[in-house]
Parts: sequence; C-alpha cells; structure tokens
Amino acid sequence: LTSERYGVRRLPFSRVSDGDVAFFERIMPGRVITNAEELKPFNVDWLKSVRGCSKLMLKPQTTAEVSQVLRYCYERNLAVNPQGGNTGLAGGSVPVFDEIILSTVLMNRITSFDKVSGILVCQAGCILEKLSEYLEEQGFIMPLDLGAKGSCHIGGNVATNAGGLRLLRYGSLRGTVLGLEVVLADGSALDCLASLRKDNTGYDLKQLFIGSEGTLGVITAVSILCPQKPKAVNLAFLGCQSFAKVLETFTTCRAMLGEILSAYEFMDEKCMELVERHLKLSSPVTDSPFYVLIETSGSNSTHDEEKLNNFLEQAMASGLVTDGTVATDEKKIKTLWSLRERITEALTHDGYVYKYDISLPVGKLYDLVTDTRARLGPSAKNVMGYGHLGDGNLHLNITAESYSHSLLDAIEPFVYEWTARYNGSISAEHGLGFKKKQFIQYSKSKEAILLMQHFKAMLDPKGILNPYKMLPSSS
Ligand code: FAD
Ligand code: MLT
Ligand code: ZN
Repeated sequence: LTSERYGVRRLPFSRVSDGDVAFFERIMPGRVITNAEELKPFNVDWLKSVRGCSKLMLKPQTTAEVSQVLRYCYERNLAVNPQGGNTGLAGGSVPVFDEIILSTVLMNRITSFDKVSGILVCQAGCILEKLSEYLEEQGFIMPLDLGAKGSCHIGGNVATNAGGLRLLRYGSLRGTVLGLEVVLADGSALDCLASLRKDNTGYDLKQLFIGSEGTLGVITAVSILCPQKPKAVNLAFLGCQSFAKVLETFTTCRAMLGEILSAYEFMDEKCMELVERHLKLSSPVTDSPFYVLIETSGSNSTHDEEKLNNFLEQAMASGLVTDGTVATDEKKIKTLWSLRERITEALTHDGYVYKYDISLPVGKLYDLVTDTRARLGPSAKNVMGYGHLGDGNLHLNITAESYSHSLLDAIEPFVYEWTARYNGSISAEHGLGFKKKQFIQYSKSKEAILLMQHFKAMLDPKGILNPYKMLPSSS
C-alpha cells in the first residue's frame, strides 16, 4: 500500500458504515460500488505506482447528486477522492487509505456548443477525445490535446490544469476555461459557469479550482473556449545531432513559421529506442541523438507548405537538421505523432518509472537529463528526456527493473534542488498529487504555501476533499 511505502498516517475520518452505503443506495440506486474486484482498478493509478484501499465508489450523474453526496460526507466526516479518468501522473487520482471515490464517469453530457463564439459547456466527466470528435464535426477543436485523451475527463484536465501538446498555440486552461461549476466540501454548489470572454466582476474564483487537484471542490461542469479546426495541418519530424541544434532549430522555426507554428516537441534517442522496442513503432527518421516534431496549423495549405519547405531547406542547408520527413495527410501525421505521444506508455513496459515534470529555462532543459544520467550511472536502467520544448517543459524519466528506495533517494531531492537552482518548477503540468506534495517548497515560498493552506481551511474546514494530496502535511 502507498501509505506504507510513504509512511503516511490515516487522519481521523469516519469509516464507511453499512448505514452510509444504504444512504447512498437510496439517493443513487445502482451507482454505488462496493465490490472489491470492481473497485480494484480505481484504487490504483495509471502508472501502477500508488494504491489505496477504498471500499466505496459513487457514480453521480448530476450536480445535485454530487451536492447531496458531499453534504452527507461533510456531516459524517467521511473523506472523498474525486476521480476522473484516473490518468493522473502524480498519484493524486486514487485514495491513499479508504477515501470514498467520487467518480465523474457518468457525468458525460454536453450541455451546449455555440458555433459563433466557439464556447462549449459540458459536464466534467466528458472524455477529452469524445469532446474533440464532437467539435470536429462542427469545424472546431478542443484547445488542449494529450496522449491520455481517450481516457481523461475534462474535469480532470481542469483539476490538474493539464498542459499537453497544443499549449504552445492555444495557451493554458487558465485562459481557455471561461467558467466552472464546482461543488464545495460542504455540498454547496458554486455557479461560476460563465460563458463570457470578458468578465471583470470581482475575484476570478474559477482560477482557484483550476489546478487544485480535487482539494478545494469537485468540478461538475466546464465552459471552455474552442478554436476553429485548422484547414491545413503539416508535420515535420526531424533528427538533430545535439541539443544545441534542437534549440537553434526552435529559434529558426519560430522566426520562419511565425503564426502557423502549433507544436514544438522533442525526444531523445533513448525514448525512440523504447517506443520502437516496446511498442514496435518504427520511425522514418533514424540515427539521431535528438528528434523534434514540428506541427503547423493554418488556413491555407499552399502558404503553409511553402513556409515549411523554406524553413526545412534552411535548416538542412545550415546543418541544424540532418534527417527528416514531412507529413500532410492525416494518417501519416497520426503515425508520426504517436512516436512522441506514446513514450509514456512505452516507458511503463521498461520497468518501474520515476517520473519528473519540470519547467526550466529552455537553454538548461537537457542538462538536467545529462546530470541525472551521470549521477545515477548503472543503478538506473534508462534515463531519458522528452517534452514540450516550446513551453520550456522537460519530462525527465528514469526506469529501473523495480521500485527501489535507494534509487529514489539518489534522485530526490537531487532533481528538485537542481530545478530550484535554476528557478524552475518541480511540476510544470502534472501537479503535485500525492508523490510531490512534500517538495512544494522547492517551487513556492513559505508565505505562498501558508496562504494556500488558508484557502484550503476556508473552503474545506474538515479537510475531507482529497486529503494527503497537493499540500504538505503539517507534521
Ligand atoms: P484523474 O487522473 O482522475 O485525476 C487527476 C487529479 O484531478 C486528481 O487529483 C483528482 O482528484 C482530480 N480530479 C479529477 N476530476 C476532478 C473533478 N471533477 N473535480 C475535482 N478534482 C478532480 N498531463 C499534461 O498536463 N500534459 C500531457 O501532455 C499529459 N499527457 C499524458 C499522457 C498520458 C499517456 C497519461 C497517462 C497522462 C498524461 N497527462 C498529461 C497527465 C494528466 O494529468 C492527465 O492525463 C489528465 O489531465 C487527468 O485527467 P483525469 O480525468 O484522468 O484525472
Ligand atoms: C507527455 O507530455 O507525454 C505527458 O505529459 C506524459 C508524460 O510526461 O509522460
Ligand atoms: Zn507532457
């Protein structure tokens, strides 16, 4: 159990009784799960690295039901773990002990979509990919995209402030989310579900819940601004001989592609080796220490292709790039994207994964991988780096045959100290969840953490919402 590995003690919440189960069965008959086998996958995270022992999962369909559940749990002092698609990578999505799992799996209705404004309003449990498909039929797309799109819920995306593959172009959810409906710990529903681009009336309360990882309230509905589906998409997958060249290629492509650049991702040769070995994918570009994926999205394919070709000619001629391929048709674009998107999955086939998600000044990004590799030597199986280079976001991952406490001690706090030295962030996009909450001080001041604790105490005075997560335990 997670609690044993991490030495965490259960807080004095009530334990779920037969009477509690009977109550929930009355308000949502047939949507109360107590069967141990059925509960298993919801107690373990996607990485299979943390595991709780919840004995109860609830599947509300409406905001009113979420309110009823929380009002009851608040009175009974029962702890609750909000859960979406359970694809979170920081251990925040599963219980640590016996918290009740409150799943948004049945809250999957689209409320409205306005084709003039591009504003979508939906329930929190809508799966990201389903929303994308719905919008694409109408000529729009979601402003975010990530490898977990087939399982993650929009509520989970908002709760983690997920970044992903389109952030470079469309910005973070802090800009595209226009409104939220949230149920607070005591069961009261907070309606901030505005669908306005501009609204300066008082504090922007929804921001408090974006990235709050289920600790301040349960997000039940989301209003989000969606861009037009670009008419022309091109992808270039390129090989670079050094990280310095990856950086120079970025500068050059920003200058030459300008407004049509929509993604700039990178991966090192280790990542490529593992997606090829474990997932049997094959890359048309080979033998390079680094690979970059450049996507353009625009409205005029002739114009975009001309720009991209000019850029590629220059990049090749100046030796920034030594090999490459370009895709304009949807199928080849998807195949090339999967080399990058499926790294996360490939790593899980390589052993236990120690996952770090770091923001750094872009010029320093890969030094952390090199330094970590040198420090760990043969005690790690593989050390690799990939990520959203255009956003200054490195995914440093280390694999080993199995979990080892001594390897973890060699990695942490080394990685966090290194990051803090360059004023980086120890969580760029995955959140602190359970695994990183004790390290928040590497990225936030004492005063900031104290204020966060005040907010938590004000909104959830009994601390029933996702306890043991995001904020450091006081002892
Ligand atoms: P869960 O995993 O269920 O929950 C995550 C957190 O949010 C938990 O703390 C949970 O308590 C809370 N939560 C969930 N729903 C609610 C709600 N309705 N109200 C309040 N709190 C809630 N992340 C990125 O940022 N960028 C990426 O590119 C990216 N790629 C990924 C690729 C893969 C293959 C995987 C497995 C994960 C990836 N992630 C990425 C991690 C990312 O955090 C999640 O995929 C996603 O945002 C979480 O959504 P979810 O519905 O699965 O939430
Ligand atoms: C990604 O960019 O692929 C995701 O954030 C997942 C990961 O870091 O592995
Ligand atoms: Zn990422």
